[in-house]
Amino acid sequence: MPGSTPATPINCEIDFDPANVAGKTAIVTGGANGLGQAYVRALHAAKANVVIGDLSLQNGEKLASELPGTRFVQTDVTKWEDQLNMFQKAEKEFGKIHYVVANAGVATKDDVFSFDGPDSEPKEPKLNIIDVNIRGVLYTAKLAMHYFIKLNGTTPSPHQVDTCLILIGSGAAFLDCPRGPQYQCSKWGMRGVMHALRRTTGFYGSRVNVLSPWYVRTNILTKETFDQVERAGVQIATTEDAGQALLRLLSETDINGRMLFIAPRKWASKGYVDLDIDEYPENSLLNEIQEDQVKPAPVNLGLFIK
Ligand SMILES: NC(=O)c1ccc[n+]([C@@H]2O[C@H](COP(=O)([O-])OP(=O)(O)OC[C@H]3O[C@@H](n4cnc5c(N)ncnc54)[C@H](O)[C@@H]3O)[C@@H](O)[C@H]2O)c1
Repeated sequence: MPGSTPATPINCEIDFDPANVAGKTAIVTGGANGLGQAYVRALHAAKANVVIGDLSLQNGEKLASELPGTRFVQTDVTKWEDQLNMFQKAEKEFGKIHYVVANAGVATKDDVFSFDGPDSEPKEPKLNIIDVNIRGVLYTAKLAMHYFIKLNGTTPSPHQVDTCLILIGSGAAFLDCPRGPQYQCSKWGMRGVMHALRRTTGFYGSRVNVLSPWYVRTNILTKETFDQVERAGVQIATTEDAGQALLRLLSETDINGRMLFIAPRKWASKGYVDLDIDEYPENSLLNEIQEDQVKPAPVNLGLFIK
C-alpha cells in the first residue's frame, strides 16, 4: 500500500519460487566479480535478462559470454554519462527495466582518520570510497527511479508491473566496525536511501530493499585479510547464499523497505536472515515521532523543496 509503513519481517526459513523473475530485466552494477557476479548468476539461473555494468572490461565480457542472453556494458558508476549509457542500452536491448542492483562498491584504504604527524599540516583526505559507494549509488538510484516511473507512471494501478531497487549494505551498515569511517558511513547511507524511498515507491508500483552481506570471500579485501578473519574463528557467508537472498527479495512482490543480512549458516539456516532493525515496534515514542515526521504532507508530494 503506497505510503504505508513496511511489512513485518521476512520469514527466511521457507522455500520459495522465483518464477516471477523469469523474463524480467535486471541491471547489476559491479556485476563482473564477487557478490555482483553471484547476483548475475542467480538472476540468469532464474531466467532473467541481465545487464552487467562494471569497470572491468575483461571480467565483464568473460561473464557475459558465458551466460547467454546477458549483456555487458563497461561502466564506471562514478560517471553519470556511463550510467546513463548503461540504462539506455538496457532499455534499448530489452525494452523494460524491472530490477536494479546497486552493487558496485569498494573498501580501499581510508585516510580520513589517519594522523599525519605532529609536525605536519593535515592532508586533505581522498574521498574515493564515498565517490563509488555513495555518489555512484545515488546516480544508480536516480536512474532506476526514472525508468521505473517511466514504466508504471505515478498513480497506483493494478496494471503496474513489479519493479525493485536493491541497495547493498554490509555488516558495516549496522555494526560497530573499527575501521574506515568512509566505508561505514557509505553502508549506513544505503539504509538512509532505503528509508528515504520506501514510503513512496508504492505510488509507481515499485519497491526498495537492502541486502547486507557479512564477510564473503571476494576481491574486496585481500586473501590475507579473509584468512585472518577465519583464523579468528569467524564463519564467513557465501556468494551462493547471497544470490538466493536476492531472489528471495525479488520473488515476493510485497516485500518493501526490508533489509536481509547475508549470514553464515550458524546464524541463518538458508544463509540469510531478516534482523528486523529498521522498525521499532516496541518503541511507542519513536513511532509517534515518525508519524509526526510524515504528517505535514502526503508522502508522494515531497516536502521542504526550496
Ligand atoms: N565481500 C564482502 O565481504 C562484503 C561484505 C559486505 C558488503 N559487501 C559489498 O558488496 C558489494 C560487492 O563487493 P564484492 O565483495 O563483490 O567486491 P569485489 O571487489 O569482489 O567486486 C566489486 C566489483 O565492482 C567493480 N567496481 C569497482 N568500482 C567500480 C566502479 N567505479 N564502477 C563500476 N564497477 C566498479 C569491480 O570491477 C568488481 O567487479 C560492495 O558494495 C561491497 O561493499 C561486500
